[in-house]
Amino acid sequence: MSDQPATIEDYLDENRKFPPPADVAARSLWIQDGIDALAEGSSEEFWAAQARALVTWRKPFTEVLDWQVPNAKWFADGTLNVAENCLDRHVTAGMGDKVAYHWEGEPGDTRTITYAELRDEVAKFANVLKGLGVGRGDRVAVYLPMIPELPVTMLACARIGAVHSVVFGGFSANALADRIDDSDCKVLVTADGGWRRGKAALLKPAADEAVERTSTIEHVVVVRRTGASGDDTEISMTAGRDHWYHDLMADASTDCACEEMGAEDLLYLLYTSGTTAKPKGVMHTTGGYLTQVAFTHRYVFDIHPDDIYWCAADVGWVTGHSYIVYAPLANGCTSVMYEGTPDHPGKDRFWDIIERYGVNVLYTAPTAIRTFMKWGIEEPAKHDLSSLRVLGSVGEPINPEAWMWYHTNIGGERCPIVDTWWQTETGGIMVSPIPGVTTTKPGSATFPLPGISVEIVDEAGNKVERGGGYLTITEPWPSMLRGVWGDPERFFDTYWSRYPGRYFVGDGAKIDDDGYYWVIGRVDDVMNVSGHRISTTEVESALVSDPRVAEAAVVGATDATTGQAIVAFVTPKGDTEWTESLGEELRRHVADEIGKISRPKTIIFTDDLPKTRSGKIMRRLLRDVAEGRDLGDTTTLADPGVVEEIRRRAEDGGPTTAE
Ligand code: PRX
Repeated sequence: MSDQPATIEDYLDENRKFPPPADVAARSLWIQDGIDALAEGSSEEFWAAQARALVTWRKPFTEVLDWQVPNAKWFADGTLNVAENCLDRHVTAGMGDKVAYHWEGEPGDTRTITYAELRDEVAKFANVLKGLGVGRGDRVAVYLPMIPELPVTMLACARIGAVHSVVFGGFSANALADRIDDSDCKVLVTADGGWRRGKAALLKPAADEAVERTSTIEHVVVVRRTGASGDDTEISMTAGRDHWYHDLMADASTDCACEEMGAEDLLYLLYTSGTTAKPKGVMHTTGGYLTQVAFTHRYVFDIHPDDIYWCAADVGWVTGHSYIVYAPLANGCTSVMYEGTPDHPGKDRFWDIIERYGVNVLYTAPTAIRTFMKWGIEEPAKHDLSSLRVLGSVGEPINPEAWMWYHTNIGGERCPIVDTWWQTETGGIMVSPIPGVTTTKPGSATFPLPGISVEIVDEAGNKVERGGGYLTITEPWPSMLRGVWGDPERFFDTYWSRYPGRYFVGDGAKIDDDGYYWVIGRVDDVMNVSGHRISTTEVESALVSDPRVAEAAVVGATDATTGQAIVAFVTPKGDTEWTESLGEELRRHVADEIGKISRPKTIIFTDDLPKTRSGKIMRRLLRDVAEGRDLGDTTTLADPGVVEEIRRRAEDGGPTTAE
């Protein structure tokens, strides 16, 4: 465990308050549904009521919670099918013509997909997967851009009881191979590529490389995306193994029954970075997960039947799983889904989308907001954003300045901002304001939701009533992770061993005099770059896998736009020359090993690294160096001179500093 985040003081003085706007309160579903009164009972009763109200069960549950630390079972004797909840039940209820997704490709092509059409597409692809030998419990790797076939694949898996493992399209062949290997995926669903900033970003070559490195993939299904919209790159297809999606779908039947699944059957795996080099396969199950994501989506965003909702995340991360796919579909909501980047063809693409579709609820990340701030208020000012009613933020702490900018320039000072705190592991939102109900403070996620018990504790595990410490969760919650794939020990050690009986979050947080929670950032060796979790150890091991590197230490340094930026201190071997091109090659090497998102922004070469006497790298000191702060106590260093030397080099800009 490392030190407290240094930025905790930055938030101490923020005391502006924004009471709930009267018009939002007047139509608040939270108030109409009497959630405050329901929340007064036990959390088990509360969640059971939500599970009955929001989820359709094949066989109703009679048991609510079985809790043997660290194993929780929610609604264990109930059965359901998640795809049936997201699609078929709405079609049966006469909502087949309602739009599920207004999808927009980056080049400007669009698709409007109704619930009935999505149900049929999913049923067909479920039959395709069955035809390829996929059955209940089998793992399917998914490596796709932000196209409708991504939710289709996930829901097709859910329909037949298979388990999807979606790998973000920005990850490299290596990272994909590791994830395929870890859970022995049988089929891989990918695409030729997707559009990013006007270019075809190909996926198939990386998918091929990954499949060659692994031994379990029997079939690869390839969606034709870039090839169907103007890119003429030839895509190689391996006979017998690779199949075009459109060929397989051509004569697939829309007749495919939904498997009856237990509430605790596995729905999906999603890999996330931890404090070691190996990512963890976070396990999510069906009944509790669907209950909590549906509940939080309905009330945190105050979703009304005619709303147009847009979560501008990527489905490759948990935000997209829960709040682009499962929750909005379970709630029968109409979503916008967008393929590309916010600056193509112009820096007003987001605002253009909001105006054209009349988006009422926007959910995005602080990094995006800070980028929009940089681009200037003239971009949103070009568009009519008056349809917006609620604004959401997720993935990293939102600094008060970005909050105020969002509030003023996007929300027109009338939209409540919901700063939602949660994690891949929590599955759904845990701490958040409620629009029309909660008085907000810029930068605070405010209060835990009903049925969620969080506490801040000090090093020794004593509850902190007011002030800073470690965030913990004291009671199980329905959408919590059920384990780490193939590694129960790691599940226990990472989350449950530090404070027995409590879930250790890994975030530093503060509770102020009014009882508001402020989540400050990670307290472990995990960086948060643009809202993406990246392990320092994973980047370090990628660096040392280059034969010219003797040792490497990686830290996340504060960055005005991306929250944190990756800075690597590298000791090259022997007489390797410290050149800029070496730095460039190492950055490229990390991109190949993990993905471009993990590429260090800055590499600083050094003869040695600051270590404790027991040999542990002192990342706190390196962070100080990287951020140009004064050095604290260096006396535990084996060689205090090392740090001075590193600082001198950092001040020189280091041999390699790249954007
Ligand atoms: O450090 C917290 C930060 O993001 C981490 C979770 O990352 P990930 O599993 O990738 O999920 C991101 C999307 C839910 C947390 O441990 N984080 C997330 N939301 C917030 C946040 N930090 C502060 N405020 C938030 N609203």
